[in-house]
Amino acid sequence: MNHLHMTHEEALKAAPAEEPGRQQFFMERCRQLIDEKKMRDETYRGTFHIETFGCQMNARDSEKLTGILEASGFTETDTEEADFVLYNTCTVRDNANQRVYGRLGYLNRIKQKNPNMMIALCGCMMQEETVVAKIKKSYRFVDIIFGTHNIFKLAELISERMDEKKMVVDIWKGTDRIVEELPTDRKYPFKSGVNIMFGCNNFCSYCIVPYVRGRERSRNPQDIVGEIRRLVADGVVEVMLLGQNVNSYGKNLEEPMTFAQLLKEVEAIDGLQRIRFMTSHPKDLSDDLIEAMKNSGKICHHLHLPLQSGSSRVLKAMNRRYTKEQYLELVEKIRAAVPDISLTTDIIVGFPGETEEDFLETMDVVRKVRFDSAFTFIYSKRTGTPAAAMEEQIPEAVVKDRFDRLLSEVQKISAEVCGRDAHTVKDVLVEDLDDHVEGFVTGRLDNNTTVHFKGDASLIGQIVDVYLDESKGFYYMGTLK
Ligand code: SAH
Ligand code: SF4
Ligand code: F3S
Repeated sequence: MNHLHMTHEEALKAAPAEEPGRQQFFMERCRQLIDEKKMRDETYRGTFHIETFGCQMNARDSEKLTGILEASGFTETDTEEADFVLYNTCTVRDNANQRVYGRLGYLNRIKQKNPNMMIALCGCMMQEETVVAKIKKSYRFVDIIFGTHNIFKLAELISERMDEKKMVVDIWKGTDRIVEELPTDRKYPFKSGVNIMFGCNNFCSYCIVPYVRGRERSRNPQDIVGEIRRLVADGVVEVMLLGQNVNSYGKNLEEPMTFAQLLKEVEAIDGLQRIRFMTSHPKDLSDDLIEAMKNSGKICHHLHLPLQSGSSRVLKAMNRRYTKEQYLELVEKIRAAVPDISLTTDIIVGFPGETEEDFLETMDVVRKVRFDSAFTFIYSKRTGTPAAAMEEQIPEAVVKDRFDRLLSEVQKISAEVCGRDAHTVKDVLVEDLDDHVEGFVTGRLDNNTTVHFKGDASLIGQIVDVYLDESKGFYYMGTLK
């Protein structure tokens, strides 16, 4: 179909109603419009650049957005001096938001030199009404704004913006739809994230994610397994199953199933070598899952198990639904079943009402569990969450002091724990050339620790045996066997 002499209004009428056919129609339209633009204006290259903030979910969304942009006729470039720039934003803590506003000023200066440039914003920040209002008012140079529920519509939104002279804003409050079978372009040929569920129903009292990502929805197991099969056929050896709380996978499916059952189906896929998953909520981690990890030849011996706080009182106020004792028991149970498991965690310091005693409980759990690593965060007040309305927000100086003490403890333990595999041979998935040393490559152990060793680009994507010569605290230096 020739789309060139069609307005967006006419295209809307001509487009199929069903997905993914509808988006394929708009990708085709964008391709034709871009080709025509290139012919008219020889300086126009139709380049795009995506900047991703936030978590693995956003990283995976950006791969889908990349796939759509490529299918729409754009070509990727690694700088923001591009014809289409998209920021996929995060709003989990305020500093993530501030970084986006800061960089928008810089984008505006680039756009003033390139009248062809389009700027688009999407992701979790855009699901907040105050953010969208602020951008409409003070960042008029932005062309397209969309949210977390309709990323599949990118080509349709671009098609609209190419005809209209005004900002295109399309934010959905929520959705129960999951659009399958759209293009994606992976960052790594040999490993991939795979969404198994979207959204979150937990409403931890500090957290904005349930408000910006909507209610929990699980993908059908057939779609997940089908996607992984295709990925494996395309060279993927490691998948990371993604969800805000993978342990509650499958509860809302027409035919409910558990995460442990899903893992068994994924395990059975020939050619797949490693399975990771993120994130596990301690309250839902089942004995079946522990059993599955113990008996599996593919599930990596790494568990990211966010603690958030070691104080049962604070955990209750956070609405985490486990106590300090339950967390410690869970860790014991996992270690008994999988002795070489690597445990990592997230911890928040300075939650409203946190006392010095509460903080010492957190330090106590850190010392007892001895995490391989821990991401430590300063509590950030998120408007609209229950914790934002709590009295007794903690003074900055007190929080900073606790944060520093926690960080130094976490790092000390991490340096001691991470070296435990020194002088053994382990299998390593080679991921990249080493950034620092010429003639070296970087890979990951099953437990997620990085290893640097002599090797060349031909090893990338392979799982190889490496002798771990020396621990450097957070990583190893090794020798290829
Ligand atoms: N679904 C995951 C976490 C997603 S957000 C889970 O439940 O574990 C990633 C981490 O950001 C959280 O584990 C928490 O430690 C941190 N975080 C979330 N909201 C925060 C806030 N308001 N202030 C500081 N850290 C926060
Ligand atoms: Fe946020 Fe809690 Fe959901 Fe994790 S489980 S995304 S911390 S509400
Ligand atoms: Fe951020 Fe959204 Fe992830 S708020 S942490 S990008 S789910």
